[in-house]
Amino acid sequence: MSGKDLGYVGTDLARRAHAQSVLAAGGMTVTVELALPGEAMTRGSDAPDVVLLDTTGQSAEQAIAGIALLDAAWPSTHLVVLHEDTEPPVVRALLDAGALSIVTSATSDGQLVATVGAAAEGRGLIDLAVVRPVIDLYANLHAETRRRNRAVIESLAAAVEAKDTVTSRHLRAVSRLATQLAREVEPSLADSDDFLYGCLLHDVGKIGVPERILTKPGALTADEWEVMRRHPQTGARVVRPLGLDQMVTDVVLHHHERWDGGGYPSRLAGDEIPLAARVFSVCDALEAMTADRPYRRALPMSVAYERVRLEGGHQFDPDVVGALTSGVQRGTIDLEETALALDVEQPARRRISSSVL
Ligand SMILES: [Fe+2]
Repeated sequence: MSGKDLGYVGTDLARRAHAQSVLAAGGMTVTVELALPGEAMTRGSDAPDVVLLDTTGQSAEQAIAGIALLDAAWPSTHLVVLHEDTEPPVVRALLDAGALSIVTSATSDGQLVATVGAAAEGRGLIDLAVVRPVIDLYANLHAETRRRNRAVIESLAAAVEAKDTVTSRHLRAVSRLATQLAREVEPSLADSDDFLYGCLLHDVGKIGVPERILTKPGALTADEWEVMRRHPQTGARVVRPLGLDQMVTDVVLHHHERWDGGGYPSRLAGDEIPLAARVFSVCDALEAMTADRPYRRALPMSVAYERVRLEGGHQFDPDVVGALTSGVQRGTIDLEETALALDVEQPARRRISSSVL
């Protein structure tokens, strides 16, 4: 850093001597020495390009006050702060106060030289030992957030299952099938937690449908259907405050849209319907047809499968139906496994395979 002025601010003479010796070995000479940050005010325009501020033994508040004093006196000077406490909130507070880089007494000589050299050029250089606690905290928080998200979602889904005993959604089986189909359509969808969350929560809005309608032993009246058809919007209102990805709301809100525009609640058509909802709606239909209702018997999975295929380009995205067919033929989608999980009778002679397609 030839041509750059280097300052050192600190009271501990042994640490100052050590730092000067390390920096000198790295080709840097300290030209400005102060014991306390407040002394910078008296130096007027004699501002170094970079200052190493020793706050060892000080609280975070004291260190921040020192940074503020130097920043007020020498606003264009880049600050490298020597501080021992590298807990994430402290690191953030020091950086917010104006530190460009933070080092500790454990920072290696080479790292110190590199950090001060980078600061002289106006660049922050991160000592991994300093940011490691930040990374660990972030990783732990991320894992905890995922665990809590999953717990909240499973709890909500269980609440709907408990209420909607007639349709008993077998959420895990349907979600597994949806993941298999998603992998055929768009692999990133299958790997997404948000897609799974959407599948698990798709009918959460049925919490707002009276049980006399959900469990009615007969076909619903027009008025009752109107109430039932509100469940996607109710579900979206339940899900939005959770702050999850938009994909979750997309599945909840649009899983009853139709490719031809005749669905609900928004009468979206074709590609207007989010892909995640187009994929899930195929699996939801397979499950719905293969579940007993008070007013009709369940269909065998093989029959439900044929009906879904006929609806490609009408109720369902033809490409998604094509992916379903392709996956079943290649064995990457296992409708029989899903049927078993859904307790759907599967006559031996009607095994679903390419031979009956
Ligand atoms: Fe639904």
